[in-house]
Amino acid sequence: MDKGTKIYEGKAKIMYATDQADLVIQYFKDDATAFNAAKKGTITRKGVMNNKISSKIFEFLAFHGIPTHFEKYLSEREMLVKKVAIVPVEVVVRNRAAGSLCRLMGVKEGTTFASPILEFCYKRDDLGDPLINESHILAFQLATAAEIATIKEYTLKINDLLSKFFKNLALELIDFKLEFGRYKGAIILADEISPDTCRLWEIGTGKKLDKDRFRHNLGDIEEAYQEVLNRVSK
Ligand SMILES: Nc1ncnc2c1ncn2[C@@H]1O[C@H](COP(=O)(O)OP(=O)(O)O)[C@@H](O)[C@H]1O
Ligand SMILES: [Mg+2]
Repeated sequence: MDKGTKIYEGKAKIMYATDQADLVIQYFKDDATAFNAAKKGTITRKGVMNNKISSKIFEFLAFHGIPTHFEKYLSEREMLVKKVAIVPVEVVVRNRAAGSLCRLMGVKEGTTFASPILEFCYKRDDLGDPLINESHILAFQLATAAEIATIKEYTLKINDLLSKFFKNLALELIDFKLEFGRYKGAIILADEISPDTCRLWEIGTGKKLDKDRFRHNLGDIEEAYQEVLNRVSK
């Protein structure tokens, strides 16, 4: 698969064209950002680890009936994916309180809920990815009602699948962010699923094995990503 021109460079990945119009290469960088890019840094070999972790997770989800953009693992930092038109809405699922939810609801980190929380954020870096609801999505035509229904259905199924998947690896899925895209008229899961986009706490010790180690300077960042990769590869 030939790597063509660079289509887009984001904070964590670069998208390249290929010789097939409906496929692109997702290249994973070591760059890390947090707090709406106010904090910047690099995590050594993060790109390699996130590409492998994401590839495994997309394969697992596809096996369980979730349509995804994943085509194939190409090399250490490259994944071949279907080229989608990204729905400009970040979909967040929360199983326990962490991050912005603690400020939003005035609760302590780790607080449990009666049921999982589904949040939508407008994917707009210049606005700080603000929290929105379904009526904003419809009013601004970010997605149709049918697309929102599909996204919600897939997201809740993904939460069930991934919560069990990680529990088997002695990791608790605290929260995560998804991005969906349109491909040939259908909604499919896109972007990545990795310790950059999930909060994962080790069951028993509560050790954070995700980007919070970078956000809050907790140390052992590379080791945490490697630990997740080791478990996911089992
Ligand atoms: N299959 C895909 N087709 C097209 N664009 C995608 C696909 N998967 C993810 N993207 C988009 O490509 C970009 C990936 O790079 P990233 O570094 O995450 O960017 P950002 O800084 O915008 O989050 C994101 O904007 C993401 O929405
Ligand atoms: Mg991104």
